[in-house]
Amino acid sequence: MTLFYKVFEDFPHVPEELIARAYAKIGSELSTLPEDKPIRYHWDAIKQEIITVDGVEKVNAPNMGYNLDDETVEWVYKNIIDRDITNIRVSVSNSTPEKDTNGAHCDLSRNYTLLYLLDSGGEDHQTVFYQEQDKPIQRSNGERCPDHSRLTIIDSIKVPLRKWVLLNATILHGVINIPKPRISIQVGLNSVVGLGLVD
Ligand SMILES: [Fe+2]
Repeated sequence: MTLFYKVFEDFPHVPEELIARAYAKIGSELSTLPEDKPIRYHWDAIKQEIITVDGVEKVNAPNMGYNLDDETVEWVYKNIIDRDITNIRVSVSNSTPEKDTNGAHCDLSRNYTLLYLLDSGGEDHQTVFYQEQDKPIQRSNGERCPDHSRLTIIDSIKVPLRKWVLLNATILHGVINIPKPRISIQVGLNSVVGLGLVD
């Protein structure tokens, strides 16, 4: 059965000190995107993408990822997961009241994201999984669908704050109703073997 998401109720909370340092990293060095993937996007291109949602054209609100420091990376390896990690970042959505949707995409750099949400971006926020017309549920890294009229919602979750939540990033997904910046610590994974789940 396809895994869309999973909430890990018992995983340790990120220490406040590391959360403060994650916030301080926002706006610093952008995490590099992988060069070995078939579909390449640049941060600037993702920021300018036009998406059509409910018949309305709007600018996409992507997540910008900033590298976290060594101590935070070590804490994740020691306390959360130590296998098949692709990146560990603080992620901020480039969202405003006019750009309140993170359009349907599959993550370029990872197959799964383990995220710890710090700021939701809006009280009605929802992470939505989609299937595109005439396409399989499971897609490839970096695939996108800017025209949401081609999409059917197949699952969704209101990701809780300050809990570790796994998302399957190879299914088209996005976040709706985020008029403000949405901020999370994100651990990118190539597999969920290290979580005791079957890939
Ligand atoms: Fe994503």
